[in-house]
Amino acid sequence: MRRAARVFGYELDGPVAVVIRDGVVERVVPERDLTAGLDLPELDAGGRAVIPGFVDAHTHLVFAGDRADEFAARLAGRPYEAGGIWRTVEQTRAASFDDLVAQTVRRADSCLAGGTTTIEVKSGYGLDTATERRLLEAVAVAAPRTAAELVPTFLGAHLAPDPSYVDLVVEEMLPACAGLAVSCDAFCDVGALTVEQSRRVLEAGRAHGLALRIHAEELAWTGGAQLAAQLGCLSADHLVHATPADAAAMSGAGVVAVLLPSTSFCLRSDYAPARMLLDAGVEIALATDCNPGTSYTTSMPFVVALACSAYGLSADEAVRAATEGGARALGRSDVGHLRPGAAGDLVVLDGDHWVDLAYHPGMPLVAAVVKAGAVVVGR
Ligand code: NIG
Ligand code: FE
Repeated sequence: MRRAARVFGYELDGPVAVVIRDGVVERVVPERDLTAGLDLPELDAGGRAVIPGFVDAHTHLVFAGDRADEFAARLAGRPYEAGGIWRTVEQTRAASFDDLVAQTVRRADSCLAGGTTTIEVKSGYGLDTATERRLLEAVAVAAPRTAAELVPTFLGAHLAPDPSYVDLVVEEMLPACAGLAVSCDAFCDVGALTVEQSRRVLEAGRAHGLALRIHAEELAWTGGAQLAAQLGCLSADHLVHATPADAAAMSGAGVVAVLLPSTSFCLRSDYAPARMLLDAGVEIALATDCNPGTSYTTSMPFVVALACSAYGLSADEAVRAATEGGARALGRSDVGHLRPGAAGDLVVLDGDHWVDLAYHPGMPLVAAVVKAGAVVVGR
């Protein structure tokens, strides 16, 4: 890739070249330092800015149906309740496997069009063993049909509809699903799982070799963030109601805070205390939370713009959180940055600086997307 105005993570005056060989970043250098005859296909960035591909570390992409009526009711003042998840469960159970695969591919391609090259995808709209497994199988079948990488998470603990449900998750669902997932999540909140229920699920997930993550302090403070620190979760997500004590615990344990400003936007709720978390030394990630109930968007540029405006992040902080922060939340060091050895995943923006993501909110700013060195969006 030639002629970038600037490349995120580098202090180089343009024009800058990113050399990607065999899908991996070899070096990022001022154009003038390039020797002739690299014998590689070239993409001309045309004096525009380049950032790493976004790493969206929190989505619920695999589902059927929508809840537009519920969203409209919220605009009229009705509060959000986690129980709405059941409506999507019913629509998802009724969908065919092929339909679930097709919808997942379509949404992943929509993420990709917005510059996202790595996407975490949670199950969680099945809530019985057969359907939870079917959702993770749908993700596996969808994965080779999109250029974005899909990283599956088991979220059978998205609700706890009855007292024996956690037994079912631990004794039946996890053994059936763990082989199809990389991590295990639990929705720890009012109307969903308690801290003790979440602990049981996550400890069982760990026994199956899964990395751990948790939805915590979204609708109310319940103690999930400190559970994440105790268990050594990779991430605690949402954190709208996180306290300084939560931040200290997370920082000490190296738990990444996955912040989801579009969820606050769509719920018209408070925003997570991003600056407090950063000041406490917590690594933050930005993600879409794409789901039909609380944040029906695939757009990381929108999330970055919101994070600048609502959290008060600088453009550099927001882009870092949306790329390397997301990679950290997934326990990955090969994506989310463009240092030598990283995957050749990048976005050419339609502007000469990434501050445009926040400066021109809602405008189409993705000119091209490169995944593992191949142009997959634009040209
Ligand atoms: O991340 N918080 C839990 N799950 C989703 C909401 C799911 C739904 O309402 O369908 C979320 O916001
Ligand atoms: Fe979520």
